[in-house]
Amino acid sequence: MTEPRIPVGFDFTDPAVLERRVPREEFAELRRTAPVWWNVQPRGSAGFDDDGYWVVTRYADVMAVSRDSDTYSTRENTAIARFQPGTTRADLEMQRVIMLNVDPPEHTKLRAIVSRGFTPRAINALRGSLAERAERIVRDAAVRGTGDFVADVACELPLQAIAELIGVPQHHRRKVFDWSNQLIGYDDPAYGVDPLTAAAELLAYAMEMANERQLNPSDDLVTKLVNAQIDGEHLTTDEFGFFVMLLAVAGNETTRNAITHGMLAFLEHPEQWELFKAERPRSAVEEIIRWATPVNVFQRTALVDTTLGGQAISAGQRVALFYGSANFDESVFEEPERFDITRSPNPHLGFGGSGAHFCLGANLARLEIELIFHSIADHMPDIRKVAEPRRLRSGWINGIREMPVRYR
Ligand code: HEM
Repeated sequence: MTEPRIPVGFDFTDPAVLERRVPREEFAELRRTAPVWWNVQPRGSAGFDDDGYWVVTRYADVMAVSRDSDTYSTRENTAIARFQPGTTRADLEMQRVIMLNVDPPEHTKLRAIVSRGFTPRAINALRGSLAERAERIVRDAAVRGTGDFVADVACELPLQAIAELIGVPQHHRRKVFDWSNQLIGYDDPAYGVDPLTAAAELLAYAMEMANERQLNPSDDLVTKLVNAQIDGEHLTTDEFGFFVMLLAVAGNETTRNAITHGMLAFLEHPEQWELFKAERPRSAVEEIIRWATPVNVFQRTALVDTTLGGQAISAGQRVALFYGSANFDESVFEEPERFDITRSPNPHLGFGGSGAHFCLGANLARLEIELIFHSIADHMPDIRKVAEPRRLRSGWINGIREMPVRYR
């Protein structure tokens, strides 16, 4: 293998990288020359006691790791490849009860508590109410004439949907919005408060909801969690609180960015927008998610010495799965750099590989994206960009913070 041409000091999880752009050329270079590549980081800088991590760029390798929970664990924290300075081992330990950071077989028991709320059937039952919400959101924005697409349109449906599902009163959804921005977008100074404060506030709010549901049970997810038992035991306070946190946060920034990147892609590919408006192909949703890949990277930690894509990996080393590269792997996707809403098949890894942690909310996210774009096509068919979007500063989310548009 030839040495890849990656600038010295380049770090694929540096927030400054994604703030500028997804490093597509660098990913392509690695897929060609060194598909599992060691990214050096100053020791301890990412909150881990190591001096780097493996960058995994090819589709097949990302899939292989996702499917192999025996070799690759999520215990050392999946979601965050780079921590705020000040994050401690104790913070990491505390987060080990989050389902995303638990390996099977314990993970299977945790996931079973909520998985029935997310089956295609359960999600389809929300179609009518979410369609009404989507329509209202888009009509309200349209009458304003111009505005920020992210705040007016893209944020709202994911937030309202998860509030409905969890049982957060709609008038409290603004709090959930702020917490989820701080917990996921913590690298961006615009979001202010540090993620640990946001986590503490959200946990306290979750406990208030639990107490309330014990007195007044309902058919929402919080009531399910209050009543849930694992091996005959109720969830501990921490388990409960982090469960609510994961559910409240996981579907917000992600789906919002799928919607915003999707809109931007349509604005930059007007022929695809015309096609969507005329034919509304079902395949559009999957292409929007592939194109957006809102979660650029999640990581695993190797439990044993192993080999990946011909590269030796040692036990304890971090392995970063770059979905933002896998979804543009030319060995799987024909002309991956073409935004094509009729693309089929489209086996993208936007929701992760098909392993134990495959996105729980995938069906919900798909429905939200479908409904919002149908409403946009109906009520703001001539939407235009009026200024360049402002990207999110993040080590792992491919995000857009603001996108000024003219609705009509
Ligand atoms: C897990 C992406 C929407 C809840 C994940 C994973 C990814 C992802 C990449 C990790 C997969 C893995 O590690 O193998 C996305 C994207 C979304 C989205 C791109 C929107 C387009 C949602 C929604 C919810 C949600 C709406 C609703 C609650 C979760 C949960 C997990 C998860 C709970 C952890 C599952 C587990 O550990 O078993 N998501 N997600 N996501 N997602 Fe999503």
